[in-house]
Amino acid sequence: MALVFRCSTDSLHAWGGDALAVGLFAGEAGEAGRSALAGRFGAALLERLEQRRFKAKPGECVSVERLGETPATLLVIGLGEPACFGYEQLRNATATASRAAVTGGARRLGLTLPLDGLETSAAAAAMAAAARLSLYADQRFKSEAEPTPGLAEVVLLGLPAGAEVAANEAVASAPALCSGVELARELVAAPPNVVTPQALADTAASIARDFSLELKVLERADCEALGMGSYLAVAQGSDLAPKFIHLTYRPSGEVKRRLALVGKGLTFDSGGYNLKTAGSQIEMMKYDMGGSAAVLGAMRAIAELKPAGVEVHMIVAACENMISGGAIHPGAIVKASNGKTIEINNTDAEGRLTLADALVYASKLDPDAIVDLATLTGACVIALGEEIAGLWSPSDGLAGALLQAAEQGGENLWRMPLRASYREGLKSGLADMKNTGPRPGGSITAALFLQDFVAGQVPWAHLDIAGTVWSDKGRGLDPAGATGFGVRTLVNWVCAGGPA
Ligand code: BES
Ligand code: MN
Ligand code: ZN
Repeated sequence: MALVFRCSTDSLHAWGGDALAVGLFAGEAGEAGRSALAGRFGAALLERLEQRRFKAKPGECVSVERLGETPATLLVIGLGEPACFGYEQLRNATATASRAAVTGGARRLGLTLPLDGLETSAAAAAMAAAARLSLYADQRFKSEAEPTPGLAEVVLLGLPAGAEVAANEAVASAPALCSGVELARELVAAPPNVVTPQALADTAASIARDFSLELKVLERADCEALGMGSYLAVAQGSDLAPKFIHLTYRPSGEVKRRLALVGKGLTFDSGGYNLKTAGSQIEMMKYDMGGSAAVLGAMRAIAELKPAGVEVHMIVAACENMISGGAIHPGAIVKASNGKTIEINNTDAEGRLTLADALVYASKLDPDAIVDLATLTGACVIALGEEIAGLWSPSDGLAGALLQAAEQGGENLWRMPLRASYREGLKSGLADMKNTGPRPGGSITAALFLQDFVAGQVPWAHLDIAGTVWSDKGRGLDPAGATGFGVRTLVNWVCAGGPA
């Protein structure tokens, strides 16, 4: 059963569900909360917290079982210092409370967290998404799935009188958004023998069918006719046919902006003849379609939310990067669909080769903006780690809009330089360019390579999500594994009208 998130002006005294979570600040700032707790549950509770050495640090959670009482489970959540408390800490506290409630067997959770200094509706929306996304569990590949009793209802308690109407409106879009994130997580986590280029096309087809979107899938011969020699060079080593996927959302009224979302869709990246070696995480390269998962997840959410005024085109040049007698040679020279010739000096820099033709195709739609997402470079992981994706854009307006959409969704982006002089590194003696520059600044030359395939006047941004697409241990509202990174940023950006 789906989780319902609701906002209420009821106080914690009125809560009749089976679990109640109360957030407490650390130190003196927590005194007011402590006395409220003592007022409701008795002073013995404070002694118990003392006994358990509860310091109210962020992430701390003490669970108290109350046999035969309502609520039966009391969760005291640490919030840290009030000066450091914002939307991110609110999301994390919600995730901690939701997981602890499920562990305690609860079905209905009441939440009391301080929202001072935060915008109530934005806070409620952030909490609604955090509650659901933190409880995601993937049992598709277990022969015997364990029953996962989720929460039926989470109620945000104690809203100021009159604030609950707007807050409930703000949380109404959370289910669609979360379904998009969950779709992206499922696609990324599925192994490479399940999520193939055909499976990505099938996923687009089921979104198109469920929400009446338009879908066009170009086969190898169609791509040849369009001159997509760069994309097809990557695909040619695989036994699986490439699928060039174009999914379109059209709003019911007037179209004010046309937007293109492009995702890297390598369902497996072996490196090709520049084969990945030990330590290069070859066994994880199923997640090299994380960009396509993000744009498919975003399209699923957009299709359900039906934003007015924006037409959205999703483009994925899906294929595998494999080795065989027919695979591309290191050193081969190919021609992309805009006529540029590329010397492939490294077959492992394949993502940009597929994106090149996808960006040319997107440019021909004459959009008001193009945003691409790609697990493009290990260099970006070295630069920014696993919590932050790189953002490159020549447009300050588009970069600013994406940074804001990311912030609103709780995803971290950092703008990186598109330093034109580094283009030097991509010079080829024979062709118009090479696909790989020197190792230093590798994520920057990758972005510069992509820029060559975007029609000059179209505002464009590139997000390198190589680090953020997967979390080994889990963090905040992301359980261990696929994060679904990018969906929330894209949906927020598109639903804000896609300002550029
Ligand atoms: N898919 C990889 C990038 C990647 C690496 C993603 C690690 C996630 C984790 C990409 O196709 C690749 O192999 N890039 C090379 C580029 C190099 C050959 C210029 C890289 O980053 O090593
Ligand atoms: Mn590669
Ligand atoms: Zn790759």
